Amino acid sequence: MTILINQPELGIRVEDQKHQHDVKELVLDGGFQVPDRFDAPEINSFGKSFRDYHAESERQKTVEEFYRQQHINQTYDFVKKMREEYSKLDKAVMSIWECCELLNEVVDDSDPDLDEPQIQHLLQSAEAIRKDYPDEDWLHLTALIHDLGKVLLLPKFGELPQWAVVGDTFPLGCAFDESNVHHKYFKENPDAKNPAYGTKNGIYKEGCGLDNVMISWGHDDYMYLVAKENGTTLPPAALFIVRYHSFYPLHKAGAYTHLMNKGDEENLKWLHVFNKYDLYSKSKVLVDVDAVKPYYQSLIEKYFPAKLRW
Ligand SMILES: [Fe+2]
Ligand SMILES: [Fe+2]
Repeated sequence: MTILINQPELGIRVEDQKHQHDVKELVLDGGFQVPDRFDAPEINSFGKSFRDYHAESERQKTVEEFYRQQHINQTYDFVKKMREEYSKLDKAVMSIWECCELLNEVVDDSDPDLDEPQIQHLLQSAEAIRKDYPDEDWLHLTALIHDLGKVLLLPKFGELPQWAVVGDTFPLGCAFDESNVHHKYFKENPDAKNPAYGTKNGIYKEGCGLDNVMISWGHDDYMYLVAKENGTTLPPAALFIVRYHSFYPLHKAGAYTHLMNKGDEENLKWLHVFNKYDLYSKSKVLVDVDAVKPYYQSLIEKYFPAKLRW
């Protein structure tokens, strides 16, 4: 499988991204380049290409059934309710590292690539980024925390069904773009019958900013909420990565970019950097957890000085 670095060069408009698949490097505002040296495996833990939702296998059927349920049940009103419920942050008090360990109890049904404990995925992504961006410590920590919201699957956090926690995310309140995986199942979503949600902009104004858009509920939005409400000093790009890393229709297909504002466009460049590591670090090469723990503990103390409310 060819690994595409789906990146615009600085100055290329976001709308043009999907036509820039041959661009191999990105010069970011910080003045450094996305290195092309990340050693990405060509197959996942099951011996298939990454994110191949059409390959014939039992696992793929599980994934399709997952998306059927997700597309039917994630509605505007459901997301609104979830945001209200989880902004209470009344489920637990624990550190980031405690949460990493807790996450080992979780299996993600929507992911066709991953069959290792979650902490391995977190550390594989973080270590791969650390190797290529040694000075961006905030990005290392962002990788470590990006999937912690998956604790939503556990009883203490409401034991939400998989469709309300994992999988690609998409906006509610406007038309479902065709780039959404298994798009056909949106027909059965009650929001599809609401004419106010049926147009490209739906209830939103062009350029309104993603912050004003209701995105399907899951581990992305939950972890964003936890990090923000606990007053993290991580930069805005880190929070953007955490919040939108599953928003594949945007960062892979270039859909919904009309809803972004200038700040989103800047942050999206970092999400593109991050995503490469999120996808391709799911491999059989395991990280020695005890060896790297002190480094990540120091980052946690820097950006999350107190225990967090979840
Ligand atoms: Fe994720
Ligand atoms: Fe991930």
